[in-house]
Amino acid sequence: MHVLVVGGAGYIGSHMVKLLCRRDCEVTVLDDLSAGYRDAVTGGRFVLGDLGEARVLAEVFAAQRFDGVMHFASHIQVGESVREPAKYYRNNVFKTQALLDAMVAHQVRHFIFSSTAAIFGEPVRTPIDEAHPKNPINPYGRGKWMVEQMLEDYDLAYGLKAVKLRYFNAAGADPEGQLGERHEPETHLIPLVLQAASGRRANVTVFGADYDTPDGTCIRDYIHVADLCEAHWLALRRLWEGGESAAYNLGNGNGFSVREVIETARAVSGREFSVVYGERRPGDPARLVADSRRARDELGWRPRHAALETIIGHAWRWETR
Ligand code: UFG
Repeated sequence: MHVLVVGGAGYIGSHMVKLLCRRDCEVTVLDDLSAGYRDAVTGGRFVLGDLGEARVLAEVFAAQRFDGVMHFASHIQVGESVREPAKYYRNNVFKTQALLDAMVAHQVRHFIFSSTAAIFGEPVRTPIDEAHPKNPINPYGRGKWMVEQMLEDYDLAYGLKAVKLRYFNAAGADPEGQLGERHEPETHLIPLVLQAASGRRANVTVFGADYDTPDGTCIRDYIHVADLCEAHWLALRRLWEGGESAAYNLGNGNGFSVREVIETARAVSGREFSVVYGERRPGDPARLVADSRRARDELGWRPRHAALETIIGHAWRWETR
């Protein structure tokens, strides 16, 4: 099977490419290296290009018949999406549509889409299952939800089968130590905390300690990048076996507060570092925890690295590599 991985040089995409190569797939990576790294692509054929350019997509699809497409090439900063919505709608929505149109034109029928918990907005109940109302509160979440809806229409009209995977908080690093998170700038909690632990950063700021949670800090459901990738693999196989389009929420079902992440990082790293308490970050819900029973029941997905110590441990090895 030959899989096109768009954004395969980025954080999650690069872990996915490694897994697909291990599972004996042929892989083509399309990435413009705007946020990814060429040396993170450990297998397959690499094409440098922007999926927003019609010529690039035409060449990629003409060169090869694909059995499935995975799409990781997104901008991911919620705050930036509020300041620069045009950037987010252009990249995360319009360019995705161009990719889908190329798939339809070349009769490629299987698509795995990287969606997000941000489509739910402020939760009205928790844990969050797939039926939870979709009320995204920023352009990042709205764009992802637009694509999910677009995919429903493309299935009905063109028979394009898609699995939408709503990630909660992707974290951790390759258990073998070869790959990890390299965002520039980094905005995610776990890498920032570990950069403080290693001394690359002077401190870490807690965005708000007055939330309605047991210790006052926000609670998130951290999910190991390797477990996320395994879910993509199971989802693609389900489509290959004739499965219908579907959506799955991907998390461990366990929430950890910002303080708990910091304490675990201290224990795992054995390092002290300084913590600053700051204002709330606009748009942060107090608690985001997934109900992932559907993925377990329908895909047979079993997260293998669910312990926060493991997630932070792998990220720490990457940070100190
Ligand atoms: N946090 C801090 N200090 C920091 C960074 C983060 O206290 O320096 C807190 C945040 O306020 C939040 C928690 O740590 O409560 C996690 O924050 P992240 O930025 O690591 O991740 P988010 O929960 O904001 O994740 C959201 C969506 C995801 C989406 C992601 C995009 O939930 O679906 O943003 O980057 F993919």
